[in-house]
Amino acid sequence: MAIILDGKKLRDKLLEGLKNKLASYKIMPKLVVILVGDNPASQIYVNNKKKTAEKLGIESVVVNYPDNISEAELLAKIAELNEDASVNAILVQLPLPAHINKQNIINAIDPIKDVDGFTPQNFGKLLSGEKPYVYPCTPKGILILLDEYGIDVAGKHVVVVGRSNIVGKPLSVMLLNLNATVTVCHSHTENLSEITKTADVLISAAGKKIIEDCMLSKDSVVIDVGIFKDEFGKTRGDVEFDSVSKKAAYISPVPGGVGPMTIASLMLNTVELFDIQNKRSCD
Ligand code: GUN
Repeated sequence: MAIILDGKKLRDKLLEGLKNKLASYKIMPKLVVILVGDNPASQIYVNNKKKTAEKLGIESVVVNYPDNISEAELLAKIAELNEDASVNAILVQLPLPAHINKQNIINAIDPIKDVDGFTPQNFGKLLSGEKPYVYPCTPKGILILLDEYGIDVAGKHVVVVGRSNIVGKPLSVMLLNLNATVTVCHSHTENLSEITKTADVLISAAGKKIIEDCMLSKDSVVIDVGIFKDEFGKTRGDVEFDSVSKKAAYISPVPGGVGPMTIASLMLNTVELFDIQNKRSCD
């Protein structure tokens, strides 16, 4: 039976550390989350972010907009938040409605307040191997989780399934920067299982049930980034947990694996941006 990569336990440890650090702050960091429309999954994520921030004493504001908000109105709000010195971190929850150009919105965020690390400046720095202000939350959380369990990716073959701007793309670059040998697979990849079988570390961020035990080699590390409800309303990931956990050496569960690490990373990023803006050295 694989060792469980316990994201909940590590999240709690990281948040405890952050809470202690924040105890010495006279002013608390402030995070603003913009949520457009009523996507149920996004509403749950945003609520979790707000609740976690509140537990730490991080000020958090959720700005809700209806589905039919115009791109211009959204851009005007971002300009206002960029100018507002009391706001340290801005997050626009994705996905956005189809009539809004997502990249225009992301590009408008001041890079020093870009808590996702998605703006061209931060993403470009990541790509060139320079340090962005912060790293994207889900990839950062995955790397912290691997590190906690002593899993070193240097020289290892890491197969990432999924090439989204939120997870697959930044994660693959961060893994390369850590000297992993990285293969990125996606919906057009032929012979997927021939590739996944060669992985030392297999990371699935495909958003659908795709990884079965026959697709991996024995004693590999399996990270499941997917999260959705199955036909019975049960929360599941990309990986068929029961069979895969009998073959892998390590596995991250869903729920309780990558999800909590994403939230912890968001809190870490919010505080890191506050520190950069206030020129505090890390303590
Ligand atoms: N939607 C799903 N994951 C994320 C994320 O990490 N950041 C943002 N902004 N939206 C998301």
